[in-house]
Amino acid sequence: MEHSIRKKVLRKITYGVYILAVKLDDKYSAATITWVSQASFEPPLLMIGLKKLSNSYKFVIDSKKFSINILNDSQKNMAASFFKNTKYEKGELNGYEIKEGKTGVPVFIEVNSFLECELVKVIEGGDHDIIVAEIKNFENLTGQEVLNLRSTGWNYGG
Ligand SMILES: Cc1cc2nc3c(=O)[nH]c(=O)nc-3n(C[C@H](O)[C@H](O)[C@H](O)COP(=O)(O)O)c2cc1C
Repeated sequence: MEHSIRKKVLRKITYGVYILAVKLDDKYSAATITWVSQASFEPPLLMIGLKKLSNSYKFVIDSKKFSINILNDSQKNMAASFFKNTKYEKGELNGYEIKEGKTGVPVFIEVNSFLECELVKVIEGGDHDIIVAEIKNFENLTGQEVLNLRSTGWNYGG
């Protein structure tokens, strides 16, 4: 297979931009991710391609619950700040305020909306595994447009 064609074609797939946030004991991890999709109506399931070598992967496997935060289209800078390590200080992750969601997972206060998820199954993939999770709580915070990957000029795929 021609690698450049593979990359070109795979990058035509449309994605959103999300921040996954997870707490384990008194430590936090958060990562900007894009490979997210609803996977069932009933029960409401989500599937995520999650990098096995990331800190957030270990946290999700151990904690078994996490949030997916959907960003406003004005929040590209916030997304960029979660490509690097997560620092918790005074109720903030990398300078962005969080609170505890209904199910106990960390959620961001100033985002478009968020989903609180419980791990159902891990399907072995390759360098990423497929995390299947049931959505236990939904909150819609703003009526703004959501951030999508194409508008950022970034890519993840190929
Ligand atoms: C544009 C872009 C999209 C990304 N999408 C994903 C994704 O869908 N899944 C994933 O596991 N990592 C994704 N990453 C990589 C994570 O952002 C990165 O592994 C994460 O910040 C690592 O943090 P951690 O080790 O502290 O968890 C993406 C990176 C970029 C630059």
